[in-house]
Amino acid sequence: MKKILVIHGPNLNLLGDRESNFYGTNTLEEINQQIKKLARELNCQVEFLQSNHEGVIVDTIGSSKGKVDAIVINPAAFTHTSVAIRDAVLGVKIPTIEVHLSNIYNREEFRAKSLIAPAAVGQISGFGVNSYLLALRVAVTLIKKNENKN
Ligand code: DQA
Repeated sequence: MKKILVIHGPNLNLLGDRESNFYGTNTLEEINQQIKKLARELNCQVEFLQSNHEGVIVDTIGSSKGKVDAIVINPAAFTHTSVAIRDAVLGVKIPTIEVHLSNIYNREEFRAKSLIAPAAVGQISGFGVNSYLLALRVAVTLIKKNENKN
């Protein structure tokens, strides 16, 4: 069964009561449950990591080669700062989709730039939990497309 790694970056463990005007009221556990439910429907397996530490995220991406077929990542604040996560994504060449709960383009100016997006296949931003669910669907489609190429 195809495996997709879902990475949640810093402070996403606080979802539920963290700036709910931007991020909604679902907890991370509730978001993960919705992702798991869709994964069952799409017949794929999901693995989760939430970390507030850039190095942990870099290590996890770096050791994922050959272990997962696609990555869905919400790099959270690291979106705007992390050359290391961008390089990890480029390094492993695993198809990666960047997601954001909020629309990073209609908030503070510093959020409108992603260092990770150029290394990803694409980005989904602004649809709350649906950003993750759309990304999972895209990931499954990408995996199938890549299989047909080989
Ligand atoms: C976020 C947007 C980032 O700018 C912010 O730092 C986050 C969450 C989002 O999902 O909308 O922590 O990635």
